[in-house]
Amino acid sequence: MEIIEDVAQMQQRCLEARQKGLRIAFVPTMGYLHEGHLSLVRAARAEGDIVVLSIFVNPTQFGDGEDFDSYPRDLSRDAEMARTAGANWLFAPRAKDMYPAGYATWVDVEGLTDTLCGASRPGHFRGVTTVVCKLFNIVQPHVAFFGSKDFQQLAVIRRMSADLNLPLEVRGMPIVREPDGLAMSSRNVNLSPAERGQALCLYEAIGIATALVRAGERDSRTVIEAVRRRIEQEPEAAIDYVQICHAQTLADCHALDRHAVLLLAVRVGTTRLIDNHHLGEE
Ligand code: PAJ
Repeated sequence: MEIIEDVAQMQQRCLEARQKGLRIAFVPTMGYLHEGHLSLVRAARAEGDIVVLSIFVNPTQFGDGEDFDSYPRDLSRDAEMARTAGANWLFAPRAKDMYPAGYATWVDVEGLTDTLCGASRPGHFRGVTTVVCKLFNIVQPHVAFFGSKDFQQLAVIRRMSADLNLPLEVRGMPIVREPDGLAMSSRNVNLSPAERGQALCLYEAIGIATALVRAGERDSRTVIEAVRRRIEQEPEAAIDYVQICHAQTLADCHALDRHAVLLLAVRVGTTRLIDNHHLGEE
């Protein structure tokens, strides 16, 4: 596996690979890799001749007072994990090359970004779509893999790719969880042991919601209330949002139908965790 930091070099290498008829499969990340990221690399490995993994802690998607500075970083550890999982090229650009002096262009998906994480993190998705669009233009993938753990992000990236006629396929992959059910996240390392225990309330609340739906409950408000009650039992947990939304439009679902997805964002201590579950598939 090769580590490439230079933007122009990465773009040139990918262009040459495409010209040779090789299929490029791409996994964009912010690093501090875990099994969730590696599941995407393995899926990419199964589909691509060349697997490109990017690691870039993108400053433009962090708001003031968010955890850009404390976001975990360890490139040598990540490189070893990426190599073992089957990545060919690890692209790790520098911020000054991605956003040089005079940088002035933004990609903004409207509507879908008004709710959920978009409402609590103003400007976040503008940073995500801008960097992902730039990474797509550098790497020129045939297929790009994203986790459905970041459910809204996946919907926003699909929208951007369709709206801008980007010539690639966006593939969503299942959430990978710790053995006890906590969704894997680079941010989990910031949880103290006590917070790590309380963080399980997201998964347990999803279990409560799932059980209610299986028992025939069809009113979103009842399910949301039960979820909130479970999370509010934890002293360090503060709910950012608990919503049930349509899987494609992200509009609130009042009656639970097959499109309904439960989405949660909860701060445990200072760490913001998200999780979701497609209730409509129960
Ligand atoms: P990051 O949080 O590093 O996540 C990179 C990819 O891994 C995303 O597609 C995310 O959904 C996926 N992922 C994270 N945890 C997962 C889990 N437990 N199971 C399955 N997939 C998981 O998302 C970002 O970075 C950034 O916003 C990025 C798209 C790279 C743009 O900067």
